[in-house]
Amino acid sequence: MSGASLGKEDGGLMVHAEGVHKRFGRLDVLKGVDLKVKPGEVMCVIGPSGSGKSTFLRCVNHLEKIDAGRLRVNGHLVGYREKGGRLYELREREVAMQRREIGMVFQRFNLFPHKTALANVMEAPVQVKRTPTAQAREQALALLDRVGLADKTHSYPSQLSGGQQQRVAIARALAMEPALMLFDEPTSALDPELVGDVLEVMKQLALDGMTMIVVTHEMGFAREVGDSLVFMDGGVVVEEGDPRSVLAEPKHPRTRDFLSKVL
Ligand SMILES: Nc1ncnc2c1ncn2[C@@H]1O[C@H](COP(=O)(O)OP(=O)(O)OP(=O)(O)O)[C@@H](O)[C@H]1O
Ligand SMILES: [Mg+2]
Repeated sequence: MSGASLGKEDGGLMVHAEGVHKRFGRLDVLKGVDLKVKPGEVMCVIGPSGSGKSTFLRCVNHLEKIDAGRLRVNGHLVGYREKGGRLYELREREVAMQRREIGMVFQRFNLFPHKTALANVMEAPVQVKRTPTAQAREQALALLDRVGLADKTHSYPSQLSGGQQQRVAIARALAMEPALMLFDEPTSALDPELVGDVLEVMKQLALDGMTMIVVTHEMGFAREVGDSLVFMDGGVVVEEGDPRSVLAEPKHPRTRDFLSKVL
């Protein structure tokens, strides 16, 4: 873990985005995103469809290369290495190493359908980290217990509800012992009655001190669990603040307009 560089190079921030730009062909998707996430902070991100929320998360997770600006995660410049004041592009293998510090949970669970819950959670530690099987198994059982699925370890994804599958996906991400967890609308594909269990797991994770960025439509979660709330529109951060203040008294007209439609 890069604890030393984290404190030294970036004021102790877990994520530091400065003027982040991302373009797809001629489409400017991120037009200068500035954000800071402290260790242990839970940042919730809201905004209209197409505003760039998922794209930003994908940049943080090194899945997209940014076109301008600076993005540091856990003390590392995403996609680059700094040496003697110059930037060098990282090789794919080095990018993969950095990505291991970050867990990501998507709207769709993306579990391996032919593997049990237990095998899904063990997969990355064994294959990527070379954790001995017995140890990976023990950790996976503990994680499945933590997300409330101790009795489903031998079930296949098709035998689990959407909410249970999503909790396996969270356990799977945690198995790599990430420094940062990214959630992209983790409950929006779920039936309403299954949302609560997943949010509860995320809340516990937050209480345990995990640093999290959560793109969500769950304003109740943002209000209760979030340390900060970011409203994105048109590829920029329009407004940011304490979730309770932003939701109760949005300052920017675009935030007000958006919230009046979703609340
Ligand atoms: N790989 C890609 N190639 C081209 N355009 C893309 C790509 N990924 C995203 N976009 C475009 O970037 C814009 C922002 O997309 P993004 O998925 O980040 O929005 P979002 O805020 O997550 O929206 P939603 O709430 O619908 O998930 C959209 O116009 C989208 O079509
Ligand atoms: Mg999205």
